[in-house]
Amino acid sequence: MNRPPLKRFYVKSFGCQMNGYDGERMSELLEAEGMIAAEDAATADLVVLNTCHIREKAAEKVYSEIGRLKRADGTSPMITLAGCVAQAEGAEVLARTKMVDIVVGPQAYHHLPELIRQAASGKVVDIDMPVESKFDKLPARKKVGPTAFLTVQEGCDKFCTYCVVPYTRGAEISRPFSRIINEAHALVDKGAREITLLGQNVNAWSGEDDAGRPQGLEGLIRALDKISGLERIRYMTSHPNDMSEGLIEAHGDIKKLMPFLHLPVQSGSNRILKAMNRAHTTESYLSLLQRLREVRPDIALSGDFIVGFPGETEQDFQETLDLISEVRYAMAFSFAYSPRPGTPAADMDNQIDQGVSKERLQRLQALLNTHQLEFNQQTIGRKTDILIERAGKKLGQMIGKSPWLQSVIIEAPVKIGDMVTVELSEAGPNSIRGRQTESVMA
Ligand code: 5AD
Ligand code: SF4
Repeated sequence: MNRPPLKRFYVKSFGCQMNGYDGERMSELLEAEGMIAAEDAATADLVVLNTCHIREKAAEKVYSEIGRLKRADGTSPMITLAGCVAQAEGAEVLARTKMVDIVVGPQAYHHLPELIRQAASGKVVDIDMPVESKFDKLPARKKVGPTAFLTVQEGCDKFCTYCVVPYTRGAEISRPFSRIINEAHALVDKGAREITLLGQNVNAWSGEDDAGRPQGLEGLIRALDKISGLERIRYMTSHPNDMSEGLIEAHGDIKKLMPFLHLPVQSGSNRILKAMNRAHTTESYLSLLQRLREVRPDIALSGDFIVGFPGETEQDFQETLDLISEVRYAMAFSFAYSPRPGTPAADMDNQIDQGVSKERLQRLQALLNTHQLEFNQQTIGRKTDILIERAGKKLGQMIGKSPWLQSVIIEAPVKIGDMVTVELSEAGPNSIRGRQTESVMA
């Protein structure tokens, strides 16, 4: 098919923060090729759908998104399917829909310019997981906001029995120490004041520092702590089994490391955790949290939960509710189990009726919501800094994040990127109101 030259691109990312990061990097790559970002898909010559495969709903959404790209005159932009659906389905995508031109996996997207050239003469699929790192082939970081993501680790070797990630993102790989530090400097130079280190198992990161000494994630965080202009450091997502004592201690003595930790447990039943191949128990998880609270008493905890895993009884589910009540999460994500093709759990007997899972999910979320509100209420009266990220819905409102990752709304003449001292004054379930006050810093 003959197409006019591609000028405008539009990248739409679904799913996790790592996909968000990949989406930004693809945009930078296309800009380096001389293309410009379009306002929306309707005005783009090239649309990249950067997809998520973690649950069936997310994966199915992709095909309706593709259908919507067809224009009234019967034409459509060049369509690239990227991300984890592309990796999992590969050439099958082309059998399912005629509209896609390029299928590219999460480890191969640095080939995008070449794939676009090839697509002029036919459809292409690139789901290789090359040994060479895509990161070395990508252009330098461009303009970034006050808070930036930085992927330091990818892939997963844990093989939880419900999860597609080890298949779509491949084996655990850590990016080299010096590359990460260089990218962090570039982000700070471009205006980032907060960096969130990303990885499917970010706390499994390991590497060697410039002196050749082995380092874990805490060593990387200690090096980032020295970057002037960088004020806040976060990381996600962590696995309980990779939570080393050194990393726990870092929460006690690195001021820039924010008092927030996303540490998924998935279930409160040891029987279900075993069937999930999680390799931790509720007891080992709770003692980790106790250590964290010893070094950082105000730490806000967050988690992920799956309800309705094959074989989950009402008793197992009750144990999850009990664990939640014991921990009192500041925030959490919860999902009904979704069988994923190719994963061991999809073939297990005792699949749970969807109606039962849905009902349990509602009960679980109601409990999590009460704790989230309770956590927010406990912070009322505190004086703290918030980093302004965006304008609010109403004129004059600005929204920033507290150290505990709460969204704080203030009405004050401040700009995106400002670090503002506020007193937290009123708590809702999803946000807090704050009043600007004098700085608490000496
Ligand atoms: N069904 C439901 N939730 C899942 N997750 C991962 N795989 C599945 C699945 N098959 C959830 C887990 C994980 C989060 C990113 O998504 O809770 O931590
Ligand atoms: Fe999936 Fe488990 Fe790996 Fe997390 S740790 S990405 S849930 S396999």
